[in-house]
Amino acid sequence: MSDSTIESVLSEQRLFHPSEEFSQQAHIKSTEEYQQIYNRAQQDPESFWAELAEKELDWFEKWNQVLDWQPPFAKWFVGGKLNISYNCLDRHLKTWRRNKAALIWEGEPGDSRTYTYAQLHREVCQTANVLKQLGVQKGDRVGIYMPMIPEAAIAMLACARIGAAHTVVFGGFSAEALKDRLNDASAKLVITADGGWRKDAIVPLKDQVDKALANQSVPSVENVLVVQRTEQDVHMEAGRDHWWHDLKAGVSAHCPPEPTDSEDMLFILYTSGTTGKPKGVVHTTGGYNLYTHVTLKWAFDIQDTDVYWCTADVGWITGHSYIVYGPLSNGATTVMYEGAPRPSAPGCMWDIVEKYGVTIFYTAPTAIRAFIKMGEHHPKSRDLSSLRILGTVGEPINPEAWMWYYKVIGNSRCPIVDTWWQTETGGFMVTPLPGAIPTKPGSATLPFPGILADVVDLDGNQVATNEGGYLVVKYPWPGMMRTVYGDPDRFRRTYWEHIAPREGQYLYFAGDGARKDEDGYFWVMGRVDDVINIAGHRLGTMEVESALVSHPAVAEAAVVGRPDEMKGEEIVAFVTLEGDYSAGEELEKELKQHVAGEIGAIARPGAIRFSDALPKTRSGKIMRRLLRNLASGQDVSGDTSTLEDRSVLDKLREGS
Ligand code: WTA
Repeated sequence: MSDSTIESVLSEQRLFHPSEEFSQQAHIKSTEEYQQIYNRAQQDPESFWAELAEKELDWFEKWNQVLDWQPPFAKWFVGGKLNISYNCLDRHLKTWRRNKAALIWEGEPGDSRTYTYAQLHREVCQTANVLKQLGVQKGDRVGIYMPMIPEAAIAMLACARIGAAHTVVFGGFSAEALKDRLNDASAKLVITADGGWRKDAIVPLKDQVDKALANQSVPSVENVLVVQRTEQDVHMEAGRDHWWHDLKAGVSAHCPPEPTDSEDMLFILYTSGTTGKPKGVVHTTGGYNLYTHVTLKWAFDIQDTDVYWCTADVGWITGHSYIVYGPLSNGATTVMYEGAPRPSAPGCMWDIVEKYGVTIFYTAPTAIRAFIKMGEHHPKSRDLSSLRILGTVGEPINPEAWMWYYKVIGNSRCPIVDTWWQTETGGFMVTPLPGAIPTKPGSATLPFPGILADVVDLDGNQVATNEGGYLVVKYPWPGMMRTVYGDPDRFRRTYWEHIAPREGQYLYFAGDGARKDEDGYFWVMGRVDDVINIAGHRLGTMEVESALVSHPAVAEAAVVGRPDEMKGEEIVAFVTLEGDYSAGEELEKELKQHVAGEIGAIARPGAIRFSDALPKTRSGKIMRRLLRNLASGQDVSGDTSTLEDRSVLDKLREGS
């Protein structure tokens, strides 16, 4: 990529080509090669995926049908038997990778550990045997509520090894949120730690588990397995709670992998939607293993010499697919970090890049904006010359942040891989392949081979070039979610009924708005539904509203997002009060705290606006668009003809 491209064209048409040297060594080497693969996959997706499944994964038994598509329910590699922990571990032991670093972990207080493939295999087998001892069987669900420590990945792989499904709950979620998820999944066991380090303080995870399980409120949970990390005193309930290190001592490291079916459930991961409680997104084994493997291999051009670092938390899909399963299935070295940039360690990320010679760095726009704010001198005073690819995920990246990332972190020589995807999609959907697809700042570029993505109107018609529409996928893919746990109807309603099926073709509705430019590049514009994206994390407005009205002072609440320079969006809550309560700073603080307690700190509203009434249509629907505009200080005098009572709006405006 030449620097003159940057300086001379300062519009969104800037195009960045990988260097010839980079392309030559990449798995996919040119736009022509990408197009050829894409076209071939489009013509016959099933044989495309089947060939890859044969080549990239080890199977105990081959499938007898590639795809069974009963819209909207898909089964991939029907009848095939495999084990994802085998593909992530055992098969590498037969090669020179046996003693290669599989997982490099950096703890927040500065401690570190490295596991080779052989060592990680041993840990996983032992842990799997502990799970068996605790009565966990194939098909059971196991809750994982952990800090960013190796045991989190080990626990996931141990579940997979015996065919139990894990449900990881982000360690920043509250006891209340944990309880709901454990109950929805009927988890039999919870794996946690005494605490985790976060920004120089201890997050008391075990206390939260105790709260979640108090008074038998999750009847399915029989045991709790506790990793010792922060070493403060914690309550250990006799008969229920067990120390990880006690149970693992002396346990056999021999544990043959369960031959799971392609369609056996691998995990449930809860994510926010527009209505009701978070939904349990179900992923199964074979298709997910293949999809995360191939997408990572091609989009991050994984080579055997790479040191790959994804900064996500294992509590999110990015951590599942691209810290644990994708990298290990590829036999790569994956880096895991417990901490985060904080005032006491503003250069900590760059220290880690330097210390381990990280070659691929994958983070989120909100982190990039934080790096920009902390100042260039932190990255500039470290040796970042090992880096060769930079990735981003979680929200649309603004071109300014893209350019900073490209120039300051990548020294104008590392391709930026902007990956658009979702919890539901399992892996990358629209992304550059760095040796093949020139990039434009702010665009996720082109669909991955085999992904028939498009932008359409509500009738399913393709919209014109550069016109906004709904981002959809027109054909099933191996990594797609299979259902909403326990609620197949919700799966159908949420993703498959917004855009009417036409000519028998079902369109997957992602919930994002997008446009395609004259080169067919996708520009994702953000959610078109009532989901807010805070620092790359999804939250449903309904969830926050339910949390607010569960407080005795609140009569009614409406929650919207407003643009925020650092977090992308922040929450503004409009609230009407019950008769006995009066608005004020004290109550505002209390309500913010209440929401954080109900859901987790990420849901804490940035502002609460008290009002006598909320603006509604004549049929009683809250006019969120209007509130959104009000919250971000925009003009709201426009289309208010459907408003039932104009004076409500006038009052809200006066108060702003
Ligand atoms: C948003 C995270 C623009 C989008 C992997 C999507 C993005 C939601 C990008 C999924 C990107 C994710 N460009 N927007 N590169 N990546 N998003 O389920 O709105 O936590 O629908 O999965 O994040 O969030 P989720």
